[in-house]
Amino acid sequence: MAAQILYNTFKDRMKVGVYLRLDRYLANMGCGSRSAVKKLLRAGQVTVNDQIIRDDGYRVAELQDKVTCWGEVIRYREFIYLMLNKPAGVISATDDDRERTVLDLLDPKYRNKGIFPVGRLDKDTEGLLVLTNNGELGHQLLTPRKHVPKYYLARVTGAVGPDDFAAFRDGVLLDDGYRTLPAELELLQSGELSEVRVIIHEGKFHQIKRMFQALDKKVVYLKRIAMGELCLDPALELGEYRELSDEEIAILMRKDFSDNG
Ligand code: URA
Repeated sequence: MAAQILYNTFKDRMKVGVYLRLDRYLANMGCGSRSAVKKLLRAGQVTVNDQIIRDDGYRVAELQDKVTCWGEVIRYREFIYLMLNKPAGVISATDDDRERTVLDLLDPKYRNKGIFPVGRLDKDTEGLLVLTNNGELGHQLLTPRKHVPKYYLARVTGAVGPDDFAAFRDGVLLDDGYRTLPAELELLQSGELSEVRVIIHEGKFHQIKRMFQALDKKVVYLKRIAMGELCLDPALELGEYRELSDEEIAILMRKDFSDNG
């Protein structure tokens, strides 16, 4: 429902055109502070629909006008959506007195923009984490009613065998008496340390670690590689991030998408 409302809003904005000052547009899109942006304008570095504009009060239609800065097209985005390859050692929070958070990894241009991680990965878990400042979408994605598959790569102690596959298929009884939804386990490498691909459809606290713990195994490495059709970009090194493409944002907006862990 919320995604539908957002989508309609976008379509409405396309139809009617929403105008704002050029200096605000550029500052909002991360081209610099309002005063830095004014300097860029004075220096003739900004065009609107291929005309150099020096007037900071010039009004642009946020979705219809073509704005460039330093020759690069600056598309308007109402919200920021980032894909982070989370490294181990940082927590999925916005601020913390003692620990480094995922926000500490971001460029200053993304600070003070209300960005937060959608869902959470454990401190020692790596991989795909979405960050946004779209509160409504964040709220919608965290609803536990949705069961979008989440794909992980895990290394666990001991050999993984038929009993483990069956247990995952049936749902694993956790230490608090909760039985997980059916999950999938695929063996990638067997040995003293086994490498597996795990697919879960919910996001209970420490879920994968507790599922293996219930089967007398310990997870020694965990990385999230995809959520539904949203895949971690293999070009992102640990700690790197990039803005989501329009196609990726559209995946998030789907009604059945969630990231509840
Ligand atoms: N399951 C876990 O145990 N930890 C995570 O970070 C994610 C899923």
